[in-house]
Amino acid sequence: MGHVPKRITVPFVREARARGERLAMVTAYDYPSGRLADSAGVDLVLVGDSVAMVVLGHADTLSVTMEEMLHHVRATRRGVERALLVADMPYGSFHLGPRQAVENALRFVKEGGASAVKIEGARIDVIEALVEAEVPVMGHVGLTPQSIHKFGGFKVQGRGAEARSALLAAARAVEGAGAFALVLECIPSELAREVTSALAIPTIGIGAGAACDGQVLVYHDLLGIEERIAPRFVRRYAEIGRATREALAAYVADVRSGAFPNESEGFEDPAFPTQQTIERLYGS
Ligand code: KIV
Repeated sequence: MGHVPKRITVPFVREARARGERLAMVTAYDYPSGRLADSAGVDLVLVGDSVAMVVLGHADTLSVTMEEMLHHVRATRRGVERALLVADMPYGSFHLGPRQAVENALRFVKEGGASAVKIEGARIDVIEALVEAEVPVMGHVGLTPQSIHKFGGFKVQGRGAEARSALLAAARAVEGAGAFALVLECIPSELAREVTSALAIPTIGIGAGAACDGQVLVYHDLLGIEERIAPRFVRRYAEIGRATREALAAYVADVRSGAFPNESEGFEDPAFPTQQTIERLYGS
């Protein structure tokens, strides 16, 4: 790896391919997850609208609001010092057009401290307006979860000749509109390779194979906190959900048995020393 900047910038990400470096991106949603991701050395932290599912417990991403996203972006910002902080534009925050998109994206930058936003789908008018307004944009094509009703569910995209060329065209258009990077979600690995070599900007894959310039995973998936669904592209690097449940169950058992707290986990009044302190000081 070449020069490592104190803070990751949009130009640093855009030029990752030229430097021959792969980008590691992960989602985060609050101060501790942002801080842990940042201190682990990830390049990009995405406050994804997946917060709706893995943090807020919804079945899909559609219901999360701008206000909820802003709340999570602000909290994550406090934990992230080095990584590039990207805010995901939620469903309904840009669908009315460029004006609405710019208004909401500026809130992420000004009120949330984000350095860039991510837009699902090839909304070229919106991407162009954001770039014009000095808001760096990360594109996102393939399985865009905000389109699940159109897709009929969480399904692999870009299969078959027609879908392949539509996806390639969408990727080119997003780059042409000024995006600095592009997420490719749940598309055949070969298609991701083709898109990656057709573009100059870096591609960041999730369920899109190894040919992308970088990878992204959802924090709760990679750490084993989300236990309801486990897509095949997720590699679990820890079982934090299980470890957390075991730790909490041990705490419950200790409280019930009286094993927690012990004397050293409490305070004493020097005017009334405990029997243990008297024995320590004067012998038994
Ligand atoms: O919201 C999200 O977590 C995402 C990533 C999966 C790219 O969009």
